[in-house]
Amino acid sequence: MVIKEAKFLMSNTRVEECPAPDKPEYAFIGRSNVGKSSLINMLTEHKGLAKTSSSPGKTQLINHFLINDTWYLVDLPGYGYAKVSKGSRDDWRKMINYYFQKRENLTCIFVLIDSRHEPMKTDMDFINHLGQIGVPFVIVFTKADKQSSVKTDSTIAAYKRTLLQTWDELPRIFVTSAEKRTGRDELLNFIDEVNEQ
Ligand code: GTP
Ligand code: MG
Repeated sequence: MVIKEAKFLMSNTRVEECPAPDKPEYAFIGRSNVGKSSLINMLTEHKGLAKTSSSPGKTQLINHFLINDTWYLVDLPGYGYAKVSKGSRDDWRKMINYYFQKRENLTCIFVLIDSRHEPMKTDMDFINHLGQIGVPFVIVFTKADKQSSVKTDSTIAAYKRTLLQTWDELPRIFVTSAEKRTGRDELLNFIDEVNEQ
């Protein structure tokens, strides 16, 4: 897929105020600081499109971007940031769950996971929750440039083993680096395939 146009539409906390659900929608989610906004900028080749930051918790709202006038890309706030109060965590959970339940054009969730870390409980809990509520998702490992491919492969193998303890089938898995543009074609081709179904 060639990205001809990528534009920011709006930020919301409520599904009712999101753009009309008339196009397929792909949402990026994962721990705070995992690289969601950076990956969106890399995919769209648009440096400042999604706001990035080295301190976790930058993205707080449901941010809609319109790509090629045909699909929505959504940047969601991250989870698992230790400094966030319980109240904010509950607000996050409510907002995200409501979005998952009500957003009728939601086509696929990209769950981003830092390729440097062994399986983490917050990630596994979140993935299991997605499986239980029946939202289609894929897993995207990020920041692959930060280590050797051997280390990345071993993280992925560990995640697969952990997932297979609960699930019969593994989701699609992608490896990316926003820095080196790794995985760009694979992700865009995947979106193309799903859009054509
Ligand atoms: P929140 O919105 O706070 O949840 O974070 P986020 O998941 O959107 O992360 P963001 O894209 O803001 O990136 C967090 C930090 O990681 C920034 O300092 C990025 O420059 C860095 N980063 C993101 N992706 C990569 C990558 O592929 N490689 C490297 N080396 N750094 C990355
Ligand atoms: Mg962000």
